[in-house]
Amino acid sequence: MTDSRIATARLGATGPEVGVQGLGCMGMSFAYGPSDADESRATLERALELGVTLYDTADAYGAGENEKFLSPFFKAHRDEVVIATKFALAMDPDDPTKRIIRNDAPYIRQCVEASLKRLDVDAIDLYYMHRRDVDVPIEETVGVMAELVREGKVKYLGLSEVTARELRAAQTVHPIAAVQSEWSLFSRDIEANVVPAARELGVTLVPYSPLGRGFLTGSFAKAEDLTADDFRRQQPRFTGDNAAANAALLEPIRTVAEAHGATPGQIALAWVQQQAALHGLPVIPIPGTRKPTRVEENAGATRIVLGEKDMELLEPIAAEVAGDRYADMRFTSASRE
Ligand SMILES: NC(=O)c1ccc[n+]([C@@H]2O[C@H](COP(=O)([O-])OP(=O)(O)OC[C@H]3O[C@@H](n4cnc5c(N)ncnc54)[C@H](OP(=O)(O)O)[C@@H]3O)[C@@H](O)[C@H]2O)c1
Repeated sequence: MTDSRIATARLGATGPEVGVQGLGCMGMSFAYGPSDADESRATLERALELGVTLYDTADAYGAGENEKFLSPFFKAHRDEVVIATKFALAMDPDDPTKRIIRNDAPYIRQCVEASLKRLDVDAIDLYYMHRRDVDVPIEETVGVMAELVREGKVKYLGLSEVTARELRAAQTVHPIAAVQSEWSLFSRDIEANVVPAARELGVTLVPYSPLGRGFLTGSFAKAEDLTADDFRRQQPRFTGDNAAANAALLEPIRTVAEAHGATPGQIALAWVQQQAALHGLPVIPIPGTRKPTRVEENAGATRIVLGEKDMELLEPIAAEVAGDRYADMRFTSASRE
């Protein structure tokens, strides 16, 4: 493992250069079982030393807790970090355990003020629509987001889990710097439409869950390996027969890892990174971790180049994955393609 900083890539046509790998901060406060705050803080600092400069959060991660947790780190390094946060996943007023999607103007305005306050910054660098509310025209939503740019509250705009059609419509209103969607050896549906549209429009792709929510590293093999409150217990790919079938798909990743003297997680990340050259657009994956040693391992993956034989071995995996990405597929752009 070398200590030198990772390479950089551009966020959108006019955005800043950031480390070619970002850091997903969700698990520090939400979704993946208990966290150690000191260890998470050490992870953030180590990431920055390695040249990881794009930090990903959302207002929905722990109902604002994740933004609050990250605020002191962001303030201490304001000129070095690019802060990405999101709006759109609201609590269902009829059932606080459920989420509803909102993209309307009053809601966005309320969210941006709340995020600015929790983060305690003057402006959000990259503000994403987290999910698409099909009852609001996307042009209207992006119109409000563009107003936030003009008002100086937000610098660049992003969209998460949108279709190619939605991305094109959005881009007629205001330049979109980044699309954030799931992209990994297990989840490749965006390659058909979203990735070509992003390339054509000069939009950077920010793959989330590039480690298949940790499954591709082998750190867990089934829902029962996770704590009772872990969100992944509800995900179809990790339960019952699906989990066993999917665990068997990791074999070629292990084979490639051995050949490179790397870990399976590093191969999974190197594969995502290599999509930049294959598809001709900037790709900045945001693996999530709460451990400094893992952020080192993950950053190390940016230096691995997979050969043709490696790519051939890895190619069939996604088509064989058992189970949907989400229990509720309304949360995916694929459901609207
Ligand atoms: N836009 C969206 O809708 C959306 C959806 C999901 C996620 N996201 C964003 O994307 C980020 C990343 O996605 P994700 O966290 O869902 O999935 P991921 O990055 O694919 O995997 C994260 C999991 O892998 C583990 N891990 C990380 N590095 C590892 C390593 N080197 N060895 C073994 N295990 C390792 C982590 O555990 P530890 O934390 O314990 O290290 C965590 O459980 C999130 O943090 C969030 O910011 C966005």
